[in-house]
Amino acid sequence: MERIEAVLKENRRFEPPEEFRKRARIQSEAEYEALYRESLEDPEAFWGRVAEELHWFEPWTQVLEWNPPHARWFVNGKTNLSYNALDRHVATWRKNKAAIIWEGEPGEERVLTYHDLWREVQRFANALKQLGVGKGDRVTIYMPMIPETAIAMLACARIGAVHSVVFGGFSANALAERIKDAEAKLLITADGGYRRGRVVPLKAQADEALAETPSVEHVVVVRRTGEAVPMQPGRDHWYHELVESVPDHCPPEVMDAEDPLFILYTSGSTGKPKGVLHTTGGYMVYTYLTTKLVFDLKDEDTYWCTADVGWITGHSYIVYGPLVNGATTLMYEGAPNHPEPDRFWRIVDKYGVTIFYTAPTAIRAFMKWGEAWPRKHRLDSLRLLGTVGEPINPEAWLWYHQVIGQGRCPIVDTWWQTETGGIMITTLPGAHAAKPGFAGKPFFGVAPEIRDAEGNRVETPEEGGYLVLTRPWPSMLRTVWGDPERYRRQYWSQYPDAYFTGDGARRDADGYYLILGRVDDVLNVAGHRLGTMELESALVSHPDVAEAAVVGRPHPEKGEAIVAFVTLKSHARPSEALREALKAHVANTIGPIARPDEIRFAEALPKTRSGKIMRRLLRQIAAGETEIKGDTSTLEDREVVEQLKRGE
Ligand code: PRX
Repeated sequence: MERIEAVLKENRRFEPPEEFRKRARIQSEAEYEALYRESLEDPEAFWGRVAEELHWFEPWTQVLEWNPPHARWFVNGKTNLSYNALDRHVATWRKNKAAIIWEGEPGEERVLTYHDLWREVQRFANALKQLGVGKGDRVTIYMPMIPETAIAMLACARIGAVHSVVFGGFSANALAERIKDAEAKLLITADGGYRRGRVVPLKAQADEALAETPSVEHVVVVRRTGEAVPMQPGRDHWYHELVESVPDHCPPEVMDAEDPLFILYTSGSTGKPKGVLHTTGGYMVYTYLTTKLVFDLKDEDTYWCTADVGWITGHSYIVYGPLVNGATTLMYEGAPNHPEPDRFWRIVDKYGVTIFYTAPTAIRAFMKWGEAWPRKHRLDSLRLLGTVGEPINPEAWLWYHQVIGQGRCPIVDTWWQTETGGIMITTLPGAHAAKPGFAGKPFFGVAPEIRDAEGNRVETPEEGGYLVLTRPWPSMLRTVWGDPERYRRQYWSQYPDAYFTGDGARRDADGYYLILGRVDDVLNVAGHRLGTMELESALVSHPDVAEAAVVGRPHPEKGEAIVAFVTLKSHARPSEALREALKAHVANTIGPIARPDEIRFAEALPKTRSGKIMRRLLRQIAAGETEIKGDTSTLEDREVVEQLKRGE
């Protein structure tokens, strides 16, 4: 085997293995090019044809109506996502095919066939209706990774309620903020979930949040851990009791293609998370096609995406995309290293997983834990690997390719965002050679460009710039929930004619895109997106903190680590205890994923003469650079920088 260290600068191309290519859905670059060209020249014909593969109660009258920055797809078309994910398959031989294979962290197993899932979803849909939930109402879902989470999402989709899944790792405070913004009428949670052998007390946190969320009328609680939890009579209901007494038939609500499907909160460059709104028809069609082609999905596959359903990856590529395709999707509840660092490989071996989709941060952790763990298991069932969430360094790519894929499996490095709803830039595994570190080519209908700060196109290969998208695509976000102005400002104001991604990128001579990472005040910590302003407002909500500035520092496993520069109020003194207290405060305010790695106390923060914090300087200081590069002529007080460097 080639030595991984020897290829830090990796220029190799990895062609699709012949065995893979000849069975792939798209088998050559020429085939991709022809379809890609059509998707841009005649998007209506292209997307219309894809949409026809799915079920519509009434056909659309127009494929796309584009009044920038507002798109409507499949105008006047009527459909239902749960119908396409369930009923469509129950009517075929897939009725008794496994839809969801689930494994709990303690080791339990559950398999739900399409028929099982269909019945469960209808029952829960009826239970929701009984609790007064109807079309357009918002339902917040705060759950561990258990089948009921997918059932809850599909039940909402069935009756036209808009779900807002909040990652189970968020704190009570973060949950409350999201419930309030969405004005959710109902909350679905569980008594708890398992993570690294411990119980995450979801209901207790939900109760804390509910103290400030008057919009919530009812709470449904799934029994997962069996721990005793307080139930408030009239408000709280056990899931298993509700579904016992309702019929298992619930006709799908006829939804307009542009009716909202879900809200998902994500971090931006201001303190308040944005509620990204996705609608029904376009999202369904786009996730259907990307799942099918990017993962080369076939009926006989056992497909596993290791994301949490609380993130967009879980929405699009654990639940909706795979189920609309009639695939078998695997869900695992817990941590990759519980009870030991081979848990993922044990699962791959046990269920014969064929397609495996994970994050670079996980791959880097596996590298650190060592090859012995995956080598303990048979990984021969794997045929395709994927990554998402952050740039993958070539060393990690090669390790993934050699150790997990055993040199046999193509890797797709998929670039996309909560806002894009589905995969935008990737290779197609049977058509394109992969280049470690490069996400690849635009998916069908996607028109990326690289621009400079003035808005000019950067055409020179290898020259970096801002990544924008110049065409609407079916699963694009439609707005920011409750704040249409923010939608325009955030995504469509930097360049008048393009969607601004917030990422930097460059393109090589073959047209492959390499993503350089965020160019705005958003951090990517272990694949989790966090706004620096959000972290700063958590810090200044502590009574001892006067001012805070948060920056990222490169981190070998997490991609970025969180470094906070903090000035204290006059009554407070820097101490180790306060440092720990501030870290805990941020973790309590947002969630454990937001816990700062380092807190640096400072007398003052470096500011421009107009009072803006100079983050660029702080980033250099956090990274340990002793020479401060770039223009510091606007810096108010040079001594501040010297002091910060000395770490006083
Ligand atoms: O910076 C990019 C990075 O993750 C951001 C989107 O984060 P989020 O909305 O949480 O969605 C993550 C899962 C889709 C992007 O702006 N990102 C995502 N995928 C990649 C990536 N960066 C490099 N390569 C990727 N494959």
